Amino acid sequence: MSEKIHNNENLNEKLEKIQQMAVEILEKVIRKDYVLHTLTVTRAMEMLLEKEGGDPETMLAAALCHDLGWHDVPDEYQLPDLPKDMKQEAIRLHIFHNPPLTKKVLSKCDYSDERIDRIIKIIQAHRLVEPKDLDFEQKLLIDADTLSDVFADQLYSDAKSYNRTPREVLEFRKSNIYFTKTAQEIFAKEVKSREIEIGK
Ligand SMILES: [Fe+2]
Ligand SMILES: [Fe+2]
Repeated sequence: MSEKIHNNENLNEKLEKIQQMAVEILEKVIRKDYVLHTLTVTRAMEMLLEKEGGDPETMLAAALCHDLGWHDVPDEYQLPDLPKDMKQEAIRLHIFHNPPLTKKVLSKCDYSDERIDRIIKIIQAHRLVEPKDLDFEQKLLIDADTLSDVFADQLYSDAKSYNRTPREVLEFRKSNIYFTKTAQEIFAKEVKSREIEIGK
């Protein structure tokens, strides 16, 4: 992780430990490469924190833990091209199964109960919540989550997982919308780079 945001040794150690535990859980998820996704979302979060502000101890832990719930979603809900209602249910299930896993990881990494509760509230709002009901921290996690979609490693990996061409994934991702100005700017820059790489 970058030194710029958190030059605090203690916090760095905690985040490393969270990352290790999260990776162990996410390696078992079959839907797509959630280890890559989580590390990419965390990278996006670092970029957003630098310009938008926010508390790294809370927000980087939220990024690292936000998709742990996929671990407990049944395999049949993790297949590509599910009918719409099953896909919605899969999304609901990964949110539903998140809190015990996030709690388990963060309590082993010296996070206070109060902070863990806050992080779980941020994570639970990353899907299926009306934009008007979101606070700044919840919006920041959603921005980091969707911003990662257009980073090179993530986009090419998603194309493989979803059996689509990079062009198809890029076109689909172009409809992403962002809450923060920083995310909008990074998104525009990344899309431009993908356009050049992929060509017509
Ligand atoms: Fe998610
Ligand atoms: Fe995610």
